Amino acid sequence: MRTIRFGLIGAGSIATITARELRGHANVELRAVADPSDTRRAALASSLEIGACYAHADELLRDPEIDAVYIAVPNKLHASLASDALTAGKHVLLDKPFAMSAVEAQQVTDTAAASGKTLMLGMNQRFDANVQRAKQMFEAGTLGDVYHAKAFWRRRSGIPRIGSWFTHKATSGGGALLDIGVHMLDTSLYVLGNFRPVSVTGATYTRFGQRGLGDGDWGRSEREHTKFDVDDFATALIRLDTGTTISLDAAWALHQPRGNEMGIYLYGEDAGLSVYEDLLYRQGENGEYYSIEGSNIGELRYPHCSRAHHFVNVLLGEEEPAVTLDEALSVQRILDAIYLSSRTGEEVRL
Ligand SMILES: NC(=O)c1ccc[n+]([C@@H]2O[C@H](COP(=O)([O-])OP(=O)(O)OC[C@H]3O[C@@H](n4cnc5c(N)ncnc54)[C@H](O)[C@@H]3O)[C@@H](O)[C@H]2O)c1
Repeated sequence: MRTIRFGLIGAGSIATITARELRGHANVELRAVADPSDTRRAALASSLEIGACYAHADELLRDPEIDAVYIAVPNKLHASLASDALTAGKHVLLDKPFAMSAVEAQQVTDTAAASGKTLMLGMNQRFDANVQRAKQMFEAGTLGDVYHAKAFWRRRSGIPRIGSWFTHKATSGGGALLDIGVHMLDTSLYVLGNFRPVSVTGATYTRFGQRGLGDGDWGRSEREHTKFDVDDFATALIRLDTGTTISLDAAWALHQPRGNEMGIYLYGEDAGLSVYEDLLYRQGENGEYYSIEGSNIGELRYPHCSRAHHFVNVLLGEEEPAVTLDEALSVQRILDAIYLSSRTGEEVRL
């Protein structure tokens, strides 16, 4: 049995979860972890019995016994660490967002092509069972022509650790849009099978975090920045080349009735679908309206429902990458365009 030997770069909140997922794959050995924080890397290493611990990622990357790395660090370091890992001959599973900008993302893509190694962005929502069902239903034509999608992830009070790298533009590149908006945008495009935007209009707001309001409980890094200068709410309208539109909302903090609202609604000519509820709505022959809970689309494309297992299966040659670099670049371009549109007050043509 072939074993893929992994190094973990970053030992924060999400690395702790993904490392367990990786370890759950029969063909994985977790070999090393790198993180400048003594406590976080020691905690992860001891909880998962990982032998080697490094303060610097380049020490880990020099280990010839490591085949692949999972990178989960502040966004500012995504492009440089992914490029270093690829150049060192490692396959890379990189957490979202791809990079701080599409220019950076393109550079990593070029490095990946030159290295001959596999680089995949870990868009975990794509592996959700209901998202898989929605994509399969869309492909089967169940909804008819889908002309609009409404995608949102809005928290009432869920800013990840005010004062940490998340809330400082120089280290994160952006706030709610890059952090959670990216998931809903990527998932909508994935389900619709269309990563070809033609125009974007967007607006971003900073209304809670700079007042110290809306703090959540995600993230482990230190609160070392005094300036909150990222969006805690973003909204956008994205037009695709087919004419289909996507309306996107991302909020870390918002006055709203519920604590957390996340969803994607697809509006088709024949039926509508609430993706995460797996609820299909349509009109019957006599005009009555009904909804069907629980679609029956047969076997899931990714029955493991896991990006980590998927990535390992890709390296083993058993699955094709679910997230292509072209798709990831397109998502990053749209995110850039939303910020640009917000700054200029104008529509951005892509
Ligand atoms: N896919 C998802 O659903 C998901 C969820 C949460 C976070 N993320 C992404 O994962 C990344 C990490 O987020 P988090 O929530 O774990 O943050 P976190 O603050 O909890 O952890 C970040 C870790 O990176 C470490 N780090 C900093 N510089 C480093 C370096 N040079 N080398 C190695 N480690 C370094 C920090 O010490 C810290 O332990 C972010 O890019 C975030 O957007 C993805």
